Amino acid sequence: MSDNHNPAGGVPTTGHVWDDDLADFTNQPPKWWMLGLTASAIWVCVYFLMYPAVPIAVSGTFFEGVGLPGSGKWTAINELAADQKVLDDARAKYENKLKDMTPAAILADAELSEYVIRSGKVLFSDNCAACHGQNGVGTIQAGKFAMREQGLMAPVLNDDDWLFGGTVDTIHETITGGRQGMMVAHKDMLSAAEIDSLANSVAAGTPTANPLFAEKGCTACHGEDGKGIQAMGSANLTDKIWRFDGSVEGIKQTITYGVNSGDKDARVAVMPSFTAGGKLSAVEMKKLAVYVYKFGGGTPEAAPAPVEAAAAASDAPAAEAVAK
Ligand code: HEC
Ligand code: HEC
Repeated sequence: MSDNHNPAGGVPTTGHVWDDDLADFTNQPPKWWMLGLTASAIWVCVYFLMYPAVPIAVSGTFFEGVGLPGSGKWTAINELAADQKVLDDARAKYENKLKDMTPAAILADAELSEYVIRSGKVLFSDNCAACHGQNGVGTIQAGKFAMREQGLMAPVLNDDDWLFGGTVDTIHETITGGRQGMMVAHKDMLSAAEIDSLANSVAAGTPTANPLFAEKGCTACHGEDGKGIQAMGSANLTDKIWRFDGSVEGIKQTITYGVNSGDKDARVAVMPSFTAGGKLSAVEMKKLAVYVYKFGGGTPEAAPAPVEAAAAASDAPAAEAVAK
């Protein structure tokens, strides 16, 4: 081995020689290796000047002249911002239009709806799914209050059963203004037998067959036909679609303690306003209205009463102002 690499003849040793034929010679490293070494040293200098090389927490102009943050001005943040700009530019064409459009107009535009549904998905997951479940399928509330609050934490949104109305405008109103249905506690107004009787009729989906339903004032909020009044968010009691626990026991619980009634055992159902505190921008809330409508359960005939339509129109600028 040593014969191959160190042909005898003139190359001095470092003084380390073992057993006469094993020696440390002072040969130069090969030329290619030296070139590589020099090139890397030059590269380090160039890189040091061009790119941010010293991990100090300054990005101002002070060091720029001497090249510390890099005279090439490259930073990971700049690169991200540039990429972001490409995306924003692509979106701007849609976002600008959305600003001045009503949810109903967005819904009527196929291309915009498609765009809105895509960004709505992320908004919904971030802001709504915790209560309404992914894609609005609802979440069952479990845990230590299960006995008391068993049932859906927030209504299912992907069916066509609406407490407050399923047109894109009423959905939009729900999101911008929040909702809080109220049913009084009946524990002091009805006897246990009356509650039992009502609960059984309601569970059977035939509340109006029970004379107590009208006598005890249930019709005032749930309507003569028991189908609910959307202006109050009172549930339809004839469709066997349950917002809370639909067993006889569960219904007794609802009748006895009410909903948002202030009673400590009342069922709690509060839909927060997303305008308040600028939680979402005006455009984001429009996107969500269309997104929720498009779950498939939306009510097509966008026929809000003229008063409501006017109110919604005057709400929009206010919502925008708050969002800013
Ligand atoms: C803190 C839990 C919570 C969050 C978060 C929440 N909601 Fe709600 N939402 C509710 C509750 C509770 C109700 C029912 C209110 C009632 O029964 O009075 C409701 C009702 C609604 C309704 C009316 C349903 C109907 O049948 O008329 C819509 C639409 C709605 N929410 C959409 C949304 C959207 C969109 C978001 C996200 C921006 C959202 N919600 C976030 C709890 C929530
Ligand atoms: C002050 C108005 C009001 C009165 C009076 C009232 N309710 Fe209600 N009730 C509501 C509202 C609003 C809701 C929906 C609550 C929600 O989901 O936010 C509701 C919900 C219910 C539910 C739950 C339905 C479900 O899907 O889980 C039942 C059951 C019910 N009411 C039965 C009755 C009966 C029986 C009476 C008469 C003894 C009655 N209510 C009287 C307003 C009222």
